[in-house]
Amino acid sequence: MVKIKVITGSSRPGRFNIQPARWIADLAEQRDEVEVELVDLAELNLPFMDEPMPPSMANGLYQHEHTIKWAKTIADADGFIFVTPEYNHSYSAILKNAIDYLFFEWHYKPASFVSYGSVAGGARSVEHLRGIAAEIKLYDIREQVLIPNLWGGLNDNGEYQFTDKQAEDANALLDQLVFWAAKMKDARAELQQ
Ligand SMILES: Cc1cc2nc3c(=O)[nH]c(=O)nc-3n(C[C@H](O)[C@H](O)[C@H](O)COP(=O)(O)O)c2cc1C
Repeated sequence: MVKIKVITGSSRPGRFNIQPARWIADLAEQRDEVEVELVDLAELNLPFMDEPMPPSMANGLYQHEHTIKWAKTIADADGFIFVTPEYNHSYSAILKNAIDYLFFEWHYKPASFVSYGSVAGGARSVEHLRGIAAEIKLYDIREQVLIPNLWGGLNDNGEYQFTDKQAEDANALLDQLVFWAAKMKDARAELQQ
């Protein structure tokens, strides 16, 4: 069994984010041997990073309850799906803030991305996230889902109509994510011996 956490990247009222987050979480849940949790940063409501020690030096000794809770959520995961908007050609501040809170808890786990936006489908935000991933020892997966021109895919009720191509891309992403989540779980145990 691998634990996959889907992390939302927007807390805006009326955000689009929750639609692709629920969609990819549902697809992941259909797989055997996968436990999925949708981790909504809007609900988590972390303040701007307020720990006195950088997480790489804190050795897990966090001062605040919200950090301890967040650290447990991430430590418990075997792999991640970041669902990210593109804000001014990058990813959102709320996502960066949540990432920056922790260090070791991210280590040696695969990370994948679902992005959306205008013409680029959020591709530029994912490129930035891949750079961050390396620093916190997350291993990023090439396969990704892009949702360009999200407004064009909304029906009259504001519900996005995911395409067959996006479902295909999501399954390719999940194949890799679940495979590497299982492999890295064993590798992590070896590293931590
Ligand atoms: C602050 C801000 C900056 C944005 N910048 C971009 C951008 O650089 N590229 C893009 O494709 N869309 C951009 N957009 C449009 C977003 O893709 C669109 O509003 C999307 O719904 C935002 O995600 P959310 O609704 O989940 O918050 C921007 C939106 C906001 C709020």
